[in-house]
Amino acid sequence: MKCKICKGKAVIHLRQHNLALCKEHFIERFERETLRTIRKFKMFDKEEPVVVAVSGGKDSLGVLYLLHKHGYNVRGLYLDLGIHGGFGYSELSKRRVEEFAERYGVEVRIFTIQHDLGYTIPEMAEKRYEPRVCRVCGTLKRYYLNKIAHEMGATTVVTGHNLDDEVATLFGNTLRWDLSYLRRQAPLLPSTHPKLLKRAKPFVFFTEKETAMYAILNGIPYVREECPFSVGAKSILYKEVLNRIEEVSPGTKLRFYREFLRFMKEIRVPEEEQVELKECQVCGMPTVLEVCAVCRMKGVTVPLNPSDQ
Ligand code: AMP
Ligand code: FES
Ligand code: ZN
Ligand code: ZN
Repeated sequence: MKCKICKGKAVIHLRQHNLALCKEHFIERFERETLRTIRKFKMFDKEEPVVVAVSGGKDSLGVLYLLHKHGYNVRGLYLDLGIHGGFGYSELSKRRVEEFAERYGVEVRIFTIQHDLGYTIPEMAEKRYEPRVCRVCGTLKRYYLNKIAHEMGATTVVTGHNLDDEVATLFGNTLRWDLSYLRRQAPLLPSTHPKLLKRAKPFVFFTEKETAMYAILNGIPYVREECPFSVGAKSILYKEVLNRIEEVSPGTKLRFYREFLRFMKEIRVPEEEQVELKECQVCGMPTVLEVCAVCRMKGVTVPLNPSDQ
């Protein structure tokens, strides 16, 4: 296989674009497209202080690497969730993040959830009799990423979500016709409260194969192990199904996502109908209720409703 641009040896074939590229031209295209996504969705500008939420995986470390390389005002934030899973998942991820910070000279803040919450994620799920650890984890991650990034003086939380993640979520939300979740699925979620940062996902148009290739070609050390609680998760089933469809019909994922973004304009809630966020009476962070989901979790008095955050 030859690179479509220089006829050199291709390292990747992007079937959805019918495009084979060599290392140099793949990296060039990947970075150009990312910067275009950032501009197109008005995610953030170069001077703005942004925080990349890094999990130690290929996607988020790739985003941090790319933004740092292109001179953005960027720092990292790693949340230590206290997940062991038989092989020290959180420890391993933390080491990769620290290694990255040292190697590239990027500031990364490590925040241990247990120090504030009093529990690790698995302990909190157990305490709440919640067998779906990921659900509790999702709420806590969203809360702490926003809170700590806000304390760090950032305007935006950037995550490494890729096309496979987004399409799997979209598929699940569509199967349930869950409008409230569909409305909140976008490459950029604007800030609707002074303490609620924008959330940006600059890699949403890249497949996992592309983001992995970008990390590998740049020699970025990343954790390959998945979170032990993701085993059997619905999102993994959806990813498998979508990969099967993509195999037969390349480009399906990208079309599904792009068409959704066009459709989204029609289901958007008009500004005047948007629920106004208040400040939590306990921690002061934005919430629709008097006390936010995380503070209620800490007090464990009211059942958790994930849509509260
Ligand atoms: P996930 O929800 O695990 O698919 O991760 C989606 C994105 O959330 C990642 O690309 C990261 O940007 C962010 N993220 C996940 N886990 C962490 C973590 N422990 N600390 C900071 N950011 C995270
Ligand atoms: Fe949260 Fe796996 S990363 S449960
Ligand atoms: Zn080339
Ligand atoms: Zn609170």
